[in-house]
Amino acid sequence: MITLNLSDLKSADSTIALLRDPYRFISRRASELGADAFLTRLLLRPTTCMTGVEAAGVFYDPARFQRAGAAPGALQKTLFGQGGVQGLDGEDHRQRKAMFLQIVQPDRVEALAESVTRSWRRAVDDWEAVGRIQLYPRLQELLTLAVCEWAGVPLPAAEVEDRTRQLSALFDEAGQIGVGHLRSRAARRAADRWAAAVIDHVRAGKLDPPPSSAAYVVAHHREPNGRPMASRVAGVELLNVLRPTIATAVYITLVAHALDAHPAWRKRLATGDGSEDTAFVEEVRRHYPFFPAVAAVVREDFHWGGHLFVKGRRVLLDLYGTNHDNRYWINPERFDPERFLGEEPDRFAFVPQGGGDPAAHHRCPGEPIATRLMVVALDQFVRHMTYTAVAPSAPVDFGRLPALPTGGYPIRLVATGISA
Ligand code: HEM
Repeated sequence: MITLNLSDLKSADSTIALLRDPYRFISRRASELGADAFLTRLLLRPTTCMTGVEAAGVFYDPARFQRAGAAPGALQKTLFGQGGVQGLDGEDHRQRKAMFLQIVQPDRVEALAESVTRSWRRAVDDWEAVGRIQLYPRLQELLTLAVCEWAGVPLPAAEVEDRTRQLSALFDEAGQIGVGHLRSRAARRAADRWAAAVIDHVRAGKLDPPPSSAAYVVAHHREPNGRPMASRVAGVELLNVLRPTIATAVYITLVAHALDAHPAWRKRLATGDGSEDTAFVEEVRRHYPFFPAVAAVVREDFHWGGHLFVKGRRVLLDLYGTNHDNRYWINPERFDPERFLGEEPDRFAFVPQGGGDPAAHHRCPGEPIATRLMVVALDQFVRHMTYTAVAPSAPVDFGRLPALPTGGYPIRLVATGISA
């Protein structure tokens, strides 16, 4: 049932409540109200929150919603950057999006998977020498090295540590309040300068990345007006490939957590032929929190569920709650990879990285990368590494953005038997 009226608009701003429980605020409030959508105030602005599979279908209708003006300024100055694909609509969006889809073609995803596998094997030697490591930051570094190499972006050894910290701050500290958020803003300014310089060097012929690489494709992409992007915007788009690929460190840490939480599955996968690996990582993407919600703005007044959506109003679609909508998912709180062994789920029901069609909508173009790198990691965890988690049953901290197991995820390498 969907009802929505002005009396739901609480006078108090809900920003604090959202920040306290970013993944469950919308679904919990919606369930209290017995509605799929409700009106509240976030950052002092009237905002409609929506949750569930039906709501996702409505949210991804470009005739009803636009993205221009949707992202809060604080996220543009950290996570997203300014001028990127996230804020485009119509033909401008379609053409810019085609660039990302070219970058993530299947053979390119495979090349990245090979680069990550190579980096992983080198890294394990170092990890073994240390003994106990914090998995999450080590993965960030490993992925930074691999994605820069793959994307045609030079990364001298002396810069790896700083660049990893900077690119990770774009997603790992953007949602914080105070010092963390300021660090994320500073990281955005520095990363934008760096990425724009890479684009300028490619255009000037000082760098010569392969034509299939992200650096080349972004530098030479043409807008609908036939002109290349301003180098600052092209830099933002290059970072739109590097940053989220490094953010896959979050999902990989959650794969490790899920393997420890479900030892029967670990055993089943270790002795299996790999055909169930993808189902396991898809269930990690559905079950665990990562990206809480996406924002859009109502394009023209329309009615849905008996309510008037007013032109210009910001609307949030709850991703975590939709992945747990019990009208679609049976027993949604249960971790069960079997649900991904049959038919593909509805494109508005399984929305960890947005819904709909990536070419036509704002759905993430990076799902093949995220899923493939999670499968690479799973293969390393269950078939090539011997380690124990220091705190295998640590709960996931739902107050952190992005959510991670409490205390990070330290592991102790017992011995490694990486096969060539
Ligand atoms: C680490 C796992 C990832 C998560 C959780 C994630 C999540 C998301 C989400 C929720 C959206 C917004 C969808 C919407 O607005 O409707 C998105 C968009 C996007 N993602 Fe990802 N993503 C991930 C990995 C990647 C990767 C590896 C890439 C690299 C190509 C990527 C590139 C993008 C881009 C360019 C957009 C904007 C698309 C558009 O506005 O049309 N993401 N992602």
